[in-house]
Amino acid sequence: MDARTIHVGAQPTPYDGGPRTRVFVLLGHPVQHSLSPVFQNAALRALGLDAVYVAVDVPSDELGAAVARLRDATRAGQLGGVNVTVPHKTAILEHLDALDDTARAVGAVNTVCVTTRGGQAWLQGRNTDVEGVQRALGDAGISMRDAAVVVVGAGGAARAAAWAALQARAATLGVVNRTPENARDLLETLLVRAPDRRPATYAGGFDLLSAERLREARVLVQTTSLGMRAADPSPVALDDASHELFVLEMIYARESALLHQARTLGLRCADGRDMLVHQGAASLRAWTHHEPPVELMKRSLTSH
Ligand code: ATR
Repeated sequence: MDARTIHVGAQPTPYDGGPRTRVFVLLGHPVQHSLSPVFQNAALRALGLDAVYVAVDVPSDELGAAVARLRDATRAGQLGGVNVTVPHKTAILEHLDALDDTARAVGAVNTVCVTTRGGQAWLQGRNTDVEGVQRALGDAGISMRDAAVVVVGAGGAARAAAWAALQARAATLGVVNRTPENARDLLETLLVRAPDRRPATYAGGFDLLSAERLREARVLVQTTSLGMRAADPSPVALDDASHELFVLEMIYARESALLHQARTLGLRCADGRDMLVHQGAASLRAWTHHEPPVELMKRSLTSH
């Protein structure tokens, strides 16, 4: 094992490896607290692959330069694949050569598969957040099929959750958000892209989630950043929720006020860790065609 580097950000990023070691890269800003290197490296080791996973901090104005360097690393046979996180999931689209159907529908990329074609690097964007939502719910024995689903938020993560609900043939899809217009835009855009899905819908501000709608809801996915800081209130109150409601909170760094209320009310719920591991496992499957050791990946996070 030598100390080597891969040059993606402003400074080369060091890693331990040999001349044939494949490097997987997470692009984001900030990324120093990301848990992805923890569970991805645990998985790569368990699979016995000569590969490492590193996080690279790339500010928004350096994204184009970073992707150009990723192309160089692809041609050199050094790069195994890429994950993309906040704030680049949408901005990276214009730098890629192709998108798979899910990434095109959701309009966001969290995974890039890399290869060479005719000596040139070829980068395909994918979105495994949708699978992350589906599998996190599946682990808990929850299906969105024929269910009333509420998505809280209207950003990239909300689009993935709403697309998962449409794919699962949810009976009702509600999208509520601080900025009502963003919720309406999200729903309108996704419904156009899924013309064969006709759930009952509503979209607008948080106030649209009436007591009656909350009583009917069976799955609520919280995707906003509200809850990341200790003092953050919950975007929606669960007082009128049915005991059959399942709450999927995408925040995992701490217990959000929403998750706290869900637990206090005795509702079934999950924080963002299962979803995080499942989206990463789907990325690893796409890059390596190996079946990821999901339970081991989850266990690798217990001390973090
Ligand atoms: P992500 O890709 O993680 O979904 P994003 O695209 O930046 O991130 O979306 C952030 C989401 O969190 C949006 O729904 C945003 O609401 P607005 O559309 O009104 O901006 C929501 N959000 C961020 N800060 C919030 C806050 N303080 N209160 C309520 N919602 C908030």
